Amino acid sequence: MRHDDLVLKSLSLSRKETEMTASLCLARLSLDDLLAQTLAQPFLHPDERDYYDSLPQSPRRESYLIGRYCAKRALVGRLPNTAMDAMPVYPGVFGQPVLGSAQCAGVQISLTHCNGVGAAIAFDERQPMAIDMERVSPLASPRQTEAIKAQLTNAEIAMLDYFGRDSQDCSGTWIWTWIWTAKEALSKVLRTGLMIPMPLLEISRAWHEGPYLLAEYVHFPQYKVMSFLWRGTVVSIVLPKRTTLRMDFDGLMALP
Ligand SMILES: CC(C)(COP(=O)(O)OP(=O)(O)OC[C@H]1O[C@@H](n2cnc3c(N)ncnc32)[C@H](O)[C@@H]1OP(=O)(O)O)[C@@H](O)C(=O)NCCC(=O)NCCS
Repeated sequence: MRHDDLVLKSLSLSRKETEMTASLCLARLSLDDLLAQTLAQPFLHPDERDYYDSLPQSPRRESYLIGRYCAKRALVGRLPNTAMDAMPVYPGVFGQPVLGSAQCAGVQISLTHCNGVGAAIAFDERQPMAIDMERVSPLASPRQTEAIKAQLTNAEIAMLDYFGRDSQDCSGTWIWTWIWTAKEALSKVLRTGLMIPMPLLEISRAWHEGPYLLAEYVHFPQYKVMSFLWRGTVVSIVLPKRTTLRMDFDGLMALP
């Protein structure tokens, strides 16, 4: 595995006088890399291994492995003395990831995967967080953009049209991909997924802050979302609105 395929970051969170950390893992790995990794440093718990073996040959095998790999690496960032294969991540009744080890008490995990890229964030349950990522396709057809627009409110469309005009970074398809990740990440922190009416996930405002795009929600004003681009994907992290998140962004981007 090449060093530039994996990024581990410790995130520092502060809220009033309280300081906490979360751990972020971003990885780009092929199925072969992942299988080699399972031999070099087992990361699947026996229950996860049984589930993986039961999967038919399908993209789900790869997405399951990269999601679990990122989850375990992020968890080790929070719990350095725990073996990766001793921290099973089970699906809850809504598909949400649930940690099945007493050693993980007080810690939660959120994960995402798409096309050979994965990400996970391990965080203290006192500060709910969630992560989502989507690849930005420069070749996205107007039909795909229209499909996303069909799920947005008029106010959101007007806001994104304005952003597209105002900023080079946000032109083209990325801004439409971004808003989708911002909604999916909120739906994960709520544990509902997209099984709720889409207008409930409406964005109220968005703004740039350094390398990040930040936004808030109309119906969930206690949360905000912080997004950035990494290797052609938009990564969105939802966290409590009054919590400040610091990460070594330059270090993250300095990798080739
Ligand atoms: C949750 C959801 C938004 C994920 O978005 P996505 O772009 O499809 O997938 P991502 O790669 O970003 O995220 C997948 C991960 O989200 C997590 N997840 C799934 N459902 C979740 C939920 N309700 N709450 C929080 N996290 C959830 C899982 O860890 C999943 O990975 P895993 O299955 O490998 O463990 C989407 O799948 C959804 O809306 N699900 C609910 C509807 C549904 O399909 N339910 C099926 C069971 S009835």
